[in-house]
Amino acid sequence: MTSTALPRRGFLAASAIGLTSIAGGTVSAAPPTTTPKTAAKTTTTTAKKTGPRFRPTGRAGLGGVAIGNGFMKVTNDEQATATLQAAWDAGVRTFDTSPFYGFGLSERRFGHVLHQHKRDDYVLCTKVGRVFTATTGTLPKSLWAEPSPFRYRYDYSADGVLRSIEDSLNRLGVSRLDVVFVHDLSRDTKDLDFEPAFAEATRGAFVALSKLRDEGVIKAWGLGVNTAEPALRALDVADPDIFLLATQYSLIEHQASLTDTFPKIEARGASVVVGSPLNAGFLAGRDRFNYGESIPADVKAKRAKLQAVAATHKVDLRTAALQFAAAPSVVSAIVPGARTAEQVKENMASMKTKIPAAFWQQLRADKLIAETAPVPA
Ligand SMILES: NC(=O)c1ccc[n+]([C@@H]2O[C@H](COP(=O)([O-])OP(=O)(O)OC[C@H]3O[C@@H](n4cnc5c(N)ncnc54)[C@H](OP(=O)(O)O)[C@@H]3O)[C@@H](O)[C@H]2O)c1
Repeated sequence: MTSTALPRRGFLAASAIGLTSIAGGTVSAAPPTTTPKTAAKTTTTTAKKTGPRFRPTGRAGLGGVAIGNGFMKVTNDEQATATLQAAWDAGVRTFDTSPFYGFGLSERRFGHVLHQHKRDDYVLCTKVGRVFTATTGTLPKSLWAEPSPFRYRYDYSADGVLRSIEDSLNRLGVSRLDVVFVHDLSRDTKDLDFEPAFAEATRGAFVALSKLRDEGVIKAWGLGVNTAEPALRALDVADPDIFLLATQYSLIEHQASLTDTFPKIEARGASVVVGSPLNAGFLAGRDRFNYGESIPADVKAKRAKLQAVAATHKVDLRTAALQFAAAPSVVSAIVPGARTAEQVKENMASMKTKIPAAFWQQLRADKLIAETAPVPA
């Protein structure tokens, strides 16, 4: 978990900002060749940003799990390019990826298409928290089919964040990032020792990212996690702008977010990007639920009931799921994943489809959605 100071590389030089030490919550400028003498020393920062926080525009983006060979299925390079191209052509302008997805593969594929476009024309989100190195050895067990030959270590320090961002820029082939999410800093990350990692992030990643945001190097930062607890804790100890919350807000499960998570985030003027709005494909008919190995019986039963109501009202359940996830005011975007061009086209078309009010009324009457859950107008 400890980090060694790393030579500062091109990213900060390109941004004309030096970040060689973060001590006492201050960032010092330095010429590009400066190498930190020691690992960055950091402290908590709870100073709040003034003015509105950045929110991606356009309700639906594209998530990069399937593009990184997620769900143990291979997406070949041509298919990935076609999917990203179709996303662009269909009007997607918010893209979410991570160094973790396929161990770099997803970022390389996103960059292959995105570098052709003007950088100001789209919002690019990626993640920090793992640092990758090439290996000829055995790769760690993961949910990726044929990942790139890299292994990783967790690193939520300030130096780790800078190294990760610069590696991402190199893989993506772009000059800057818009949103950086601190990835998988959560108790459900099985190979992570959560408490020490959260403490390291509080002193390191959170401080560094707030500084990068305040100095205009990135537009926003937050956590990208599958549980609410670390997101809410981060609100107490830092000043995040936006959270990627996955597996927490969908037609299947949403009560806890509505009651607790969303109001706390909204009260701080921050927003939510909904990850896995289809519960990792489950609401599009896939035989898997989120990232678990089995599908709970009550979840299967709920999908069957949702499908029955959808059939009665001639509504496509995947379409309803996407619109439902995007409906709360605190949600700035949803980032459904797609493996094929067809899927991304369908998902974008879904966002424009009119769903009859009677469908939502019946879901409410049948207690399949919470009384207070916002639905599309
Ligand atoms: N901790 C985090 O930060 C975190 C965690 C999870 C997700 N996320 C983000 O959220 C994004 C979305 O999550 P996700 O990709 O895991 O799950 P998802 O969006 O709920 O589901 C995506 C999957 O659903 C299927 N699908 C999508 N569109 C379809 C269509 N039109 N017709 C039929 N099937 C369709 C595809 O399955 P097949 O691949 O089987 O075809 C696709 O891979 C991720 O890509 C990632 O960017 C972040």
